[in-house]
Amino acid sequence: MAPDTLTYSSSPRPPAIGLDEYRRRRQALMAALPASSAVLMPAATLVTRSNDSEYTFRQDSDFHYLCGFPEPDALLLLLPGREEGEAILFCPDKDPTQEAWTGIRVGAEAAVERYGVDQAFANSERDERLAGLLDGRHSLYLPLGDDCAMALADEARQQLLARARQGARAPQALVDVAPLIHEQRLIKSDAELELMRHAARISARAHVRAMRSARPGLAEYQLQAELEHEFQWHGARAPAYSTIVGGGANACVLHYIENAAILDDSDLVLIDAGAEFELYAGDITRTFPVNGRFSDTQRSVYEIVLSAQIRAVEAVRPGVTLGEIHRGVVRDLTHGLIELGLLEGELDARIDDESYRRFYLHSTSHWLGLDVHDVGGARRDGEPRQLEPGMVLTVEPGLYIPADDDIPATLRGIGIRIEDDVAVTATGHEVLTTDVPKRVEEIEALMVDS
Ligand code: GLY
Ligand code: MN
Ligand code: MN
Repeated sequence: MAPDTLTYSSSPRPPAIGLDEYRRRRQALMAALPASSAVLMPAATLVTRSNDSEYTFRQDSDFHYLCGFPEPDALLLLLPGREEGEAILFCPDKDPTQEAWTGIRVGAEAAVERYGVDQAFANSERDERLAGLLDGRHSLYLPLGDDCAMALADEARQQLLARARQGARAPQALVDVAPLIHEQRLIKSDAELELMRHAARISARAHVRAMRSARPGLAEYQLQAELEHEFQWHGARAPAYSTIVGGGANACVLHYIENAAILDDSDLVLIDAGAEFELYAGDITRTFPVNGRFSDTQRSVYEIVLSAQIRAVEAVRPGVTLGEIHRGVVRDLTHGLIELGLLEGELDARIDDESYRRFYLHSTSHWLGLDVHDVGGARRDGEPRQLEPGMVLTVEPGLYIPADDDIPATLRGIGIRIEDDVAVTATGHEVLTTDVPKRVEEIEALMVDS
């Protein structure tokens, strides 16, 4: 089927995260703080692209997680136990002239009802109010290293120190809030999983569209256009990361985003692309022949990566660690490299001396969520973190064969990665990205019908 005859029905848009859920997240964060603490969390700011044009605004993931407020230059304060309200938002002032240029602002008055915070003030009141709100709080939790947060904290502290004789008490300790929020973000709620399923479905449709559109002579960026058309059409307003379309040996550049080469008849093309829906990321890689038919050599390498990937996905269940999944993949890939004649000797010896790393140098998984490389460490309390229900990870083994003189000519420059998004469930896992094929026969059948 040609791309222009695709039907554009899509699955229903899942509901946005509810105000209750945002409130529960804030309460969970406050419950993890010592007594007499406060949280100061700024929103993202607009970033200049050139002269007076800005990059498309993207909200800070941690700020979004705590309140869902969509505008730049806002500030969330959490003051546990404060009688007048614990969650206080500062947001851009209503300004009819500015709004005529850049769109309606929510404003402090509407923010309380629409975003469920306890109080909201215009940014023009921030400087006079912030220090007073922080007076008497011992520890200030904020994103350490965030220039805006640090400047606001510093200014408030200076004001309070200057008023010490009148009894003002400035926060004594500045503490990084990020690890606490990131621990929460690691476990996705049902509502988050619904949004991630949707991001995954849109991403999968985009990959199907690219497979159907591929043909020799197209530029890599033309496949990128097909993918990103599909994202936008279904309401995913941005890619979750820069789309990678690598034909031939470009597939061996792990984060190749130039996407400017012409696709060759005899090559594979590797596409790593995911939609961002309501700020949640999809992240899929598929590798397929530009002309729709795997050569015997391409197929032999592809099947090695595919079986490693399928086994790794099957291994996902509570209690397993990312390291265990990766070690299984390394074993399978190294075995395959020996079979291909790219490595010699005993399997265990080649794993131990890490000679496989010439062909597979990245890890197999990362967390997925509001960020494509989502937050939450792979270790907890010094130990490898065990998978728990609600975590979402990618499984993305690959083989990248350099075009070096010592490599057999038919294998040179073959790069293959296969990546799916997988949620951990109570009993095992749910693959979110099943709507795009990965088996050789399925891919060839899809492409021959196009
Ligand atoms: N798209 C980046 C990654 O797969 O990690
Ligand atoms: Mn990934
Ligand atoms: Mn990816």
